[in-house]
Amino acid sequence: MAEDGGHGDDRPTVLLGIGASIAAYKAAGLASALTRAGVDVQAVMTPRASAFIPPLVLEALTGNPCPVEVVPSGPGRAMEHIDLARGADLVLVAPASADVIGRIANGLADDLLTTTILACTCPVLVAPAMNTRMLANPAVQANLARLAGLGHEVVAPGSGRLACGDAGPGRMPDEQVLVARVLRRLGFAAGDEAAAGAPKIPDGAACGDLAGLRVLVTAGATVERIDPVRCITNRSTGRMGFALARAARDRGARVTLVAGSTAEPPPQMDDTIRVESAEQMFQAVAAEAQTADVVIMAAAVADYRPRHVADQKIKKGDGPAVLELERTRDILAWLGAHRRAGQILCGFSMETTDLVANSRRKLEEKGIDLIVANDLSTPGAGFGVDTNVVTVITPEGRTRLPLMSKREVAEQVLSAVLNARAGR
Ligand code: CTP
Repeated sequence: MAEDGGHGDDRPTVLLGIGASIAAYKAAGLASALTRAGVDVQAVMTPRASAFIPPLVLEALTGNPCPVEVVPSGPGRAMEHIDLARGADLVLVAPASADVIGRIANGLADDLLTTTILACTCPVLVAPAMNTRMLANPAVQANLARLAGLGHEVVAPGSGRLACGDAGPGRMPDEQVLVARVLRRLGFAAGDEAAAGAPKIPDGAACGDLAGLRVLVTAGATVERIDPVRCITNRSTGRMGFALARAARDRGARVTLVAGSTAEPPPQMDDTIRVESAEQMFQAVAAEAQTADVVIMAAAVADYRPRHVADQKIKKGDGPAVLELERTRDILAWLGAHRRAGQILCGFSMETTDLVANSRRKLEEKGIDLIVANDLSTPGAGFGVDTNVVTVITPEGRTRLPLMSKREVAEQVLSAVLNARAGR
């Protein structure tokens, strides 16, 4: 698949980067699962990772050499990092130690793995695995935010008892989760949508990192009637909300979608509720939020509606017309004030000026965990396009993501939601 894949078949090539973490032993199961799924796995480990797992194990499981050297030597090997980068359709760093995360985030390249990643133009997925206190260290968090800002996808670590005896977030995500993420990122579809003979994505409901969570997503524009003919609405197409709903479903969540007016029909979800006005959206969201673990308000909700809705079409007169408007309920602010224990609330914010300051103010005033801010004046951002340029803002900091597809934004937002849950 890659421009210069050396294996001579149609299988996609995944460069599996292995860092020096106790979880390195899990790389064997991961390499094996990826190979069984139909992927050509090219493992590369850092020199210190070879103390945790011998390269020979990876070579036996993948059928490819597993280079380790700091600077490869030998005939034809001086450009090994470039050859490996050219051959890769995707890089998965798993386990990603604090050290390897720091080096990738800062463009350092002092061994074969980090040199190769610098030379890669394909997507890079990073699966951190380390002690929970190391993970919480602000330096590591800053490096993870930096990775996300570079467009790399950080797969949220699992939570539980760790090798050192501590409990908390820091476990390498399950191999089934990583296989599913890799195959989706390579563009393979799941279930009925999968092409015959294509690599098989494990069932998201069983293995996704959102498995067991109920996620409520709103999408599209609300419509406020003026009379039987006219209305107040906005230019939201629903695409960002739909991308979020699809991504959450594919990562194993049970998804309820509340959709206002949208350019296309909503995708198939566990539950879909169609609404028209802001008040109808409020009623639906307030009811569904009672059982939701995560609520993502991607809908563009009207802040005002006509004070009176005319039964009959309003006829024009000679002079100017005045439409009296009243405020709608702020759904997110209501959710912030009526949050069930442990629930994560995510909002969206569209601005044309002072993006960060205005969005941070909304985050605080609405009492929510994260807000995804986009600047409508940025090319490729906002309504009616398949891409977006967003800054994810939390109480702890902010991450500006580069231009990427709405699906990729959705994946990053969901990972940020999981990180917010882990930080509770
Ligand atoms: N929102 C909501 N209920 C409303 C209006 C907006 O829940 N009545 C949600 C949106 O779904 C979005 C976020 O709040 O997630 C946007 O916040 P808001 O303050 O409404 O943004 P703007 O309309 O951009 O605000 P402003 O008028 O301050 O520019």
